[in-house]
Amino acid sequence: MRSVIRGTGSALPKRRVDNAELAQMVDTTDEWIVERTGIRSRYIAGDGETTASLAHEAAVKAIAAAGLEPTDIGLIVLATATPDHTFPSSATKVQALLGINDCIAFDVHAVCTGFLYALSVADSMVRGGSAKAALVIGAETFSRILDWEDRTTCVLFGDGAGALVLVGEDGEAGILATRLHADGRHNDMLYVDGGPSTTGTVGKLRMKGREVFRHAVVNLADVLGEVLNAAGHEPSDVDWVVPHQANMRILDATARKLGLPPEKVVVTVDQHANTSAASVPLALDVAVRDGRIQRGDLIVLEAMGGGFTWGAAAVRY
Ligand code: COA
Repeated sequence: MRSVIRGTGSALPKRRVDNAELAQMVDTTDEWIVERTGIRSRYIAGDGETTASLAHEAAVKAIAAAGLEPTDIGLIVLATATPDHTFPSSATKVQALLGINDCIAFDVHAVCTGFLYALSVADSMVRGGSAKAALVIGAETFSRILDWEDRTTCVLFGDGAGALVLVGEDGEAGILATRLHADGRHNDMLYVDGGPSTTGTVGKLRMKGREVFRHAVVNLADVLGEVLNAAGHEPSDVDWVVPHQANMRILDATARKLGLPPEKVVVTVDQHANTSAASVPLALDVAVRDGRIQRGDLIVLEAMGGGFTWGAAAVRY
C-alpha cells in the first residue's frame, strides 16, 4: 500500500506587501531584494489571522479537493515553527475548527523542512494502518517572529499555509520514498533568540545568510539525488520539482547541480517569499490547481531549514 495525495489546498493572508511598500518600512530597495532573492511580494497575517486559522482554511480546501468529509480524517500532522500557542498543538486547534472530535493530531517542528518531516511521518502512519486518511499541513506566521528592523532577514519571509490529504491505496501512485536529515552542529546559523525554556519570550529570527546559502545548495542537491535513487529514478525522469521556496538563487543552483531544466521547477518565491514549512504544500497546490502537475507525474519535493534540517520526497502524483 502507498500513501496517495488525494487533494491539496492552500491559504494566504489578505494583506499582500510588495517590495516597494517594504522599502518604506526598512532601509532596502526592490532592486536589491529581487536581484539577491527573486522575491517581489509576500503576504502578512493581520488581526485574527493565525497559523491555525490559515491552516484550517488550507485544510478545508484540501479535504474538499479530496472529495472527503472532515470526519473521514484520522490523522492530522501540522508542521510549524510558529504555533498559535506554546501548547496545545496547532493541529488540535485545526482539528476543533474542522469539527473532528476524535483523531490523532500533533505538530511537527523542523522549521522550513517541517512539511517534509510531517509528510514522512504521516506516510509511515498511513501505511502502518494508524489512519485511512491523513491531513498533512505546513502553516506559518513568520511575520510575528521577524525583527522588522533587521533588513537582512525581514525582507525574506512571508505567511501562509498549504495542506494535502493522504489516503492509503494499492497501486503505482503515491509516495515512493522519503529521506530526512538533520545536523544540529549548525543550529546557530538560523534560529530564534527566545523560547519558553530560555528567555521566556517568543524571540526573533536570526540568520547567518551566507552560511545558510552555502549549505542549502549542497544538502538539497544531495538529498534529491538520494531520494530519486531510493525510488529507482534518475533526475531525467522527474516531471516537476516542488522545492522549498527560500530564494530564487538557491532554486536555480540546486536545479543546475542536478541537471534539471528550470522549466521543471515550480516557483512561488517571487509571490509568497519564504513561508517556511508552508512553502512546499503552497507551491504544490498552486501547480496542481493551475494544471501543471497532472496525475501520473513524477514529482520531487525538497526543503532545507534551521537545525540544519533537510529532506526530500519522491511522489508519483
Ligand atoms: N536591502 C539592501 N541591502 C541589504 C539588505 C537589504 N534587505 N540586506 C543586506 N543588505 C546589504 C548588506 O548590509 C551588505 O552590505 P555591505 O556590503 O555594505 O556590508 C550587502 O547587502 C551584502 O550582504 P550579504 O549578506 O553579503 O548578501 P548576500 O549576497 O549573501 O545575500 C541573502 C543575502 C540573505 C539574500 C543570502 O545570503 C541568502 O539568500 N541566504 C540564504 C537565506 C535563506 O534562504 N534562508 C532561509 C533558508 S530556510
